[in-house]
Amino acid sequence: MEKIVSLCKRRGFIFQSSEIYGGLNGVWDYGPLGTELKNNLKQYWWQVMVRERDDVVGLDGAILTHPAVLKASGHVDTFTDPMVDCRTCKARLRADQLAEKNGARQCPNCGGKDLTEARPFNLMFQTQMGASADPASIAYLRPETAQSIFVQFKNVLDVSRKKLPFGIAQIGKAFRNEINPRNFTFRSREFEQMELEYFCRPEQGMDLLAYWLKERIRFYEEIGISRKRLHVLDVPEKERAFYSKGTFDIEYEFPFGRQELEGVAYRTDYDLQQHIKASGKPLDYFDEETKERFVPHVVEPSAGVDRTVLALICDAYDEDSAPDEKGKMETRIVMRFHPRMAPIKCAIFPLLRNKEALVAKAREVQALLRPHMNVFYDEGGAIGRRYRRQDEIGTPFGVTIDFETLGEKGEGLRDTVTLRDRDSMKQERVAIKDLPQLIPSKIR
Ligand code: GAP
Repeated sequence: MEKIVSLCKRRGFIFQSSEIYGGLNGVWDYGPLGTELKNNLKQYWWQVMVRERDDVVGLDGAILTHPAVLKASGHVDTFTDPMVDCRTCKARLRADQLAEKNGARQCPNCGGKDLTEARPFNLMFQTQMGASADPASIAYLRPETAQSIFVQFKNVLDVSRKKLPFGIAQIGKAFRNEINPRNFTFRSREFEQMELEYFCRPEQGMDLLAYWLKERIRFYEEIGISRKRLHVLDVPEKERAFYSKGTFDIEYEFPFGRQELEGVAYRTDYDLQQHIKASGKPLDYFDEETKERFVPHVVEPSAGVDRTVLALICDAYDEDSAPDEKGKMETRIVMRFHPRMAPIKCAIFPLLRNKEALVAKAREVQALLRPHMNVFYDEGGAIGRRYRRQDEIGTPFGVTIDFETLGEKGEGLRDTVTLRDRDSMKQERVAIKDLPQLIPSKIR
């Protein structure tokens, strides 16, 4: 994990938020490469979960949430973690993460045994709307994106004219005042979710739960996460939310242990019923064919953007050996991102920076490829070093413009370049004009 955290900072994937002021605990900023990686993940999720389906539409709900919404959903009263305080070092700890010695509870920070009783601690961030400070002006930063989907269910149904089963998808920020943020970005206080609420008839719930579990595992495979590091936990009844008839956790083997990436839960009609009761508004569905009116049930695949980005980074990290400038073998750090996820798809290198014709040709290739993918131009240092820098950030392809490209080694090679593959390190000679089709065909 140390190597991964250090690479993330060194190469600009993830930085600690407010670092120059000592950092803000549990909050992270994504650097240039992290932003590209995260965007690729979100775009691909949106592509397969919304755009490629007839039965899912999107929503972009507000972060600031009316307290009545979160009262009805149960978050105001029960979205809590049991917390204890250590009287010795003043640390605030989650009661379920205490160390134990000889049967006695112990502070994992200082080893102290003088701990308070466990108390519920609400995980929501509360804020004030407008100038007045009375209780009526309280609003919350949403703790999940799901609630705006339930609250807007009727509006979306009316405008989209969808028939059951159909889903509403959303990607966006969520906030939880985690007592102990930890494991890099894994448990943060500000994070993003990718959630789908898939509404259905009650009798379809269990089958759709199995369907979405399969779809979601396929998704992780398609973004390049190795199947052998993915695990499915069938959450036992006593650990499920009381309204859930079935929940699967999709877990990933992080370097710090096997942990949840996504929950796929059959939530029955609990959420819509809660909002019907609290708002007095009809959030039901009328089936034109059977002439029945009922409250739909829902299956919810709910994934974390940041956790998936972290899994992508952990899964991609690899070290092998490659020859240096003098042919001596050295350790190579290589991020084996699936080309679909890689922040930069292709790096473009003129063999020498001081040969105008090479540089001009390389700039031409850059302009040719730019409309098709994220490319990076690099003319600094020996070519081997430049390859290494790209391997370390997972760029799957490298194009080198050399003297053959300029036709100096025979007309047959004019306007051809070498295309290098990150993983095999093999190079093939290809025509420049073929690159805009060839590289995307290897990314898809
Ligand atoms: N709407 C259901 C829901 O929010 P959840 O299991 O609490 O369920 C869903 O959260 C996903 O959101 C988790 O599987 C995880 O990927 C992500 N997530 C939850 N809390 C997080 C945190 N503190 N930091 C980063 N990601 C988090």
